[in-house]
Amino acid sequence: MRFVIVLIGSIIAGITFATPPDAKYPECWPANIRDPTDSRSNEAGASVSITCQSKRGSPNPDLVWSRNGVDIVGNQEFTTNNVTKLTQNRYAWILSGIDHQATLTCTQTHPEANPKSCSVGPLRVRYGPDITLEPNTVGRVIGETAIFNCSARGNPAVTEIQWLFNDTSTLPDLQRFLLNADNQLTIHNITYSDYYLDIKCQAQSTRGIQSKTVEILPVNETTTKETSTGQKNTVASSHFVVFCNVAILFYQCIYK
Ligand SMILES: *[C@@H]1O[C@H](CO)[C@@H](O)[C@H](O)[C@H]1NC(C)=O
Ligand SMILES: *[C@@H]1O[C@H](CO)[C@@H](O)[C@H](O)[C@H]1NC(C)=O
Ligand SMILES: *[C@@H]1O[C@H](CO)[C@@H](O)[C@H](O)[C@H]1NC(C)=O
Ligand SMILES: *[C@@H]1O[C@H](CO)[C@@H](O)[C@H](O)[C@H]1NC(C)=O
Ligand SMILES: *[C@@H]1O[C@H](CO)[C@@H](O)[C@H](O)[C@H]1NC(C)=O
Repeated sequence: MRFVIVLIGSIIAGITFATPPDAKYPECWPANIRDPTDSRSNEAGASVSITCQSKRGSPNPDLVWSRNGVDIVGNQEFTTNNVTKLTQNRYAWILSGIDHQATLTCTQTHPEANPKSCSVGPLRVRYGPDITLEPNTVGRVIGETAIFNCSARGNPAVTEIQWLFNDTSTLPDLQRFLLNADNQLTIHNITYSDYYLDIKCQAQSTRGIQSKTVEILPVNETTTKETSTGQKNTVASSHFVVFCNVAILFYQCIYK
């Protein structure tokens, strides 16, 4: 008899244990972020956060933040209040170019409910100009060629990209310095003086002017070649050691 009561009790406990969260959840609460319907933009550099909330549900619902469908890693704080039965995931970060036109979505999953989500966006963020300079540092022997790509993004749009040499836009040598329409800079036959030239890519929008500097470093051809082969050998030999250890373990395992 006691056994039956315990059994029924366990079944009831089991039923009450798995309950879905309240149907109206999840809810997304942005803080310090202007609503997409607001004509004013958000500014890059602003500290913002969004809180995703769910209520009740046992076990606690899982709340995951994603940006444009990609799960966000880090900067999230999970809390569950045992009294109010509120589960939260607060994501706090600094606005940047990647948030412009992005939609942030919180997806709730729970064993007793279908996945459900709430979102904020697409956000309007004023940012930039953000310059991409590739590569930004190269090592070159005198006589070699270096090629640099410069591009820039921003909201409002970037209006001008230019290369500066010791702060003037004049090419120091029309034979050796070439610029194409994609803002790609090619420097042929590198000379000693190029190592001391201040070379920058500068981009402008109504939001401001930004620049990034490229560096051409003198290298000693023989020295660098020796170092790179040396490193390769070390990597190869450490792989060999691992391989041998695995082989020895395998051998010992089979024959003991
Ligand atoms: C809330 O409940 C959980 C599980 O029952 C427990 O582990 C946790 O310590 C409780 N937290 C507080 C603040 O009471
Ligand atoms: C620079 O741009 C050109 C043309 O778009 C591309 O082929 C090249 O790989 C780029 N170089 C670097 C270092 O990004
Ligand atoms: C680079 O230097 C070599 C030898 O001095 C010369 O023949 C060649 O024309 C130069 N090329 C450019 C693009 O200046
Ligand atoms: C650029 O500036 C550096 C240092 O101020 C100087 O040594 C170099 O000659 C200058 N180069 C040109 C092309 O103006
Ligand atoms: C470059 O290499 C040469 C020959 O190996 C050596 O004599 C010289 O000192 C090196 N220079 C530098 C700056 O490392």
